[in-house]
Amino acid sequence: MPELPNIRWGIIATGLISSWFVEDIVRTDRPEPQATHTIQAIGSSSLQKGKDFVAKHIPQTSPAIYGSYEEVYNDPNVDVIYIGTPHAFHKKNCLDAISAGKHVLCEKAFTLTAKETREVFETAQAKGVYVMEAMWTRHFPLIKAMQKVLHEEKVIGEVRRAFCDFAIFQDIASKGPESRLKNPALGAGSLLDIGIYSLTLTILGLEPALGEKKGAAETPAVRAIQSLSDGVDVSTAVLLLYKDGRQGIATSHSDLKTGDDFCRVEGSEGTLIVHGPAASVPSSFTVVKRGGGEKTYEFERPGRGFYWEADAVAVDIQQGRTESPVMPWSETIRFMEIMDEVRRQGGARFPQDER
Ligand SMILES: NC(=O)c1ccc[n+]([C@@H]2O[C@H](COP(=O)([O-])OP(=O)(O)OC[C@H]3O[C@@H](n4cnc5c(N)ncnc54)[C@H](OP(=O)(O)O)[C@@H]3O)[C@@H](O)[C@H]2O)c1
Repeated sequence: MPELPNIRWGIIATGLISSWFVEDIVRTDRPEPQATHTIQAIGSSSLQKGKDFVAKHIPQTSPAIYGSYEEVYNDPNVDVIYIGTPHAFHKKNCLDAISAGKHVLCEKAFTLTAKETREVFETAQAKGVYVMEAMWTRHFPLIKAMQKVLHEEKVIGEVRRAFCDFAIFQDIASKGPESRLKNPALGAGSLLDIGIYSLTLTILGLEPALGEKKGAAETPAVRAIQSLSDGVDVSTAVLLLYKDGRQGIATSHSDLKTGDDFCRVEGSEGTLIVHGPAASVPSSFTVVKRGGGEKTYEFERPGRGFYWEADAVAVDIQQGRTESPVMPWSETIRFMEIMDEVRRQGGARFPQDER
């Protein structure tokens, strides 16, 4: 057995998502790991927060703990930076990490606008470092299986429509202006927080896997409507239309919880329904054939499943790539452009739109 690649992570920020990420990537109970992961350093706005984070979430590790992000970027023992700050800081955090010569895995939404995203990738290209948006769901074995069933095996015939939703009760009205869910300057709104997953599943349902597409991915026509509260979108509904007539409907809502069957893909010979706690973490899907017959595909997922994207980063870097074949830069830009257009039509604005 060839030795698995090992990668040394510097973690930026000690909020919720960073805790999920680190807990997952040091798990030892998952099947078929493709890499091993060392938590080399933690960077936080406060040294004490960093210490508390390690004690609570990864007490079995002994990373360097810093009271600033810069010290992580400059740590020579760190290979790759994981960015878990609110979206509004992603551009600056990415640029700082890249200018220190580090590879980067940055949480979704990658930045606030497509313009910011392009700036980050141009800088990464000039520096020759690896950067990927942490759209973790794309790395789930379930997603690869779903695309194979839909677009290679064509089990439901020609795919024609997809409907996907992500709705979760976030009680935004009760939050203060410091909350990333409330403050437009921090990128608040359902679209970039959760609607990005509905869009992802809708588009992955309607399109073959990136590697099998011929030429650049088509950007479908977009029509969108949003409900706003204090300028922040509480709900977003997006219609997508491809040149050949394929149709997508992607919705998000931050004031109620959706059910377990949050995504449906319809084809000429049947339907595929995706199940799970939310569109970010699908756990199974069922194919229902038009003439009768039904099959459910289940997937093992110890913990939450962040190790799949982390493994992909380690393998890509080991193989000398600067982009992920699963989430290449052009795909992050395409999604950011769609979300810019959705907000332009729907009305949700960020102060950063003007810059
Ligand atoms: N992949 C997923 O499933 C998933 C799930 C949730 C969130 N996310 C993404 O992860 C990012 C962070 O979300 P989160 O829920 O983890 O947020 P969070 O719990 O509020 O944590 C964000 C962290 O960022 C740092 N930070 C720096 N400046 C800040 C500021 N002005 N306000 C607030 N925090 C600041 C803080 O860490 P320090 O004080 O330690 O520096 C804070 O703990 C978002 O982009 C979100 O879209 C992804």
